[in-house]
Amino acid sequence: MDALKSDIAQYIDEIKAISPANPEELENFRIKYLGTKGLVKSLFGRMKDVAKEDKKEAGQLLNSLKQTAEAHYEQYAHLKEQSDNGAQTIDLSLPAKPFPIGSRHPLKIVENKVVSIFEKLGFEVAEGPEIEDDWHNFTSLNMPEDHTARDMQDTFYIHTNPDWILRTHTSSVQARVLESKGQPPVRVICPGRVYRNETISARAHCFFHQCEGLYIDENVSFADLKQTLYHFVTEMFGAKTKIRFRPSYFPFTEPSAEMDISCTVCGGSGCSLCKHTGWVEILGCGMVHPNLLRNFNIDPEKYTGFAFGMGVERMTQIKYQVNDLRLYSQNDLRFLRQFVSHS
Ligand code: DAH
Repeated sequence: MDALKSDIAQYIDEIKAISPANPEELENFRIKYLGTKGLVKSLFGRMKDVAKEDKKEAGQLLNSLKQTAEAHYEQYAHLKEQSDNGAQTIDLSLPAKPFPIGSRHPLKIVENKVVSIFEKLGFEVAEGPEIEDDWHNFTSLNMPEDHTARDMQDTFYIHTNPDWILRTHTSSVQARVLESKGQPPVRVICPGRVYRNETISARAHCFFHQCEGLYIDENVSFADLKQTLYHFVTEMFGAKTKIRFRPSYFPFTEPSAEMDISCTVCGGSGCSLCKHTGWVEILGCGMVHPNLLRNFNIDPEKYTGFAFGMGVERMTQIKYQVNDLRLYSQNDLRFLRQFVSHS
């Protein structure tokens, strides 16, 4: 027991005298005193030879040796941290790690393009709410209650209030603009999401996007409408693209038309996009109905205007040959990443 006692005292002095100067010396210290085959462990091994009555004191002495060694090691632990940091030294000459950049959604790319073409012509962007009331979506646009044209669009109603709906078209923004702006001139482009109660398939969705245009001033004619849309088409789809108008019906315009463009995929010779007709329909348009002007206290004798509405999904389908509407809302990165370079 006496031998053990003096050994311990000696080792405590020895430990206190050691001052490791670098991580390697610190590690050597740890191995020598605190390692699994270290000194402290081996001294504990000598406990079995200690007489029973001395065991308590020997245990206390051994513990104090162990604590001294551990505390000493901790005192120099900063050396170890230095070495960890050292291992992570930044090499500024290395090339940066590439990180994936996101891409704009194809619908947004196309919407931005449409908006910027019209902005250059002096149109301002206007937006309206997606939850609309009957007046702005239907009645003020010359679609009074029981008007058969309401059936053309399967409307989502909001059950807490029968007057509220999810807007079925961005034409509702025309009403919002005329209401807040007062008198012409008005020249707006209105992009936004619209909703219709359709079963989701490759060709139909319960929400999609439109871009509405409205221009009202003195002496606005159908020729202005044609020229404006022709300019838009050549900017959007290229100078070779042709346009044609077919008579149509919309309650908010008179006369009304649908506009086709020559197929940008096959150039008119016939393909699946144009269903072998050489033409693809892209929008509805017409001269603003006098009733609509009257609804907003605008004098139809003094002012005339044109309006048009196009589907953003349709434009995107033509531009990028996306043939399944569901792809737009599935968030599949394999689809979305294809548009990185177009953003
Ligand atoms: N609102 C129509 C629709 O959703 C599109 C449209 C047609 C808008 C003719 C217009 C227009 O402004 O003049 O089908």
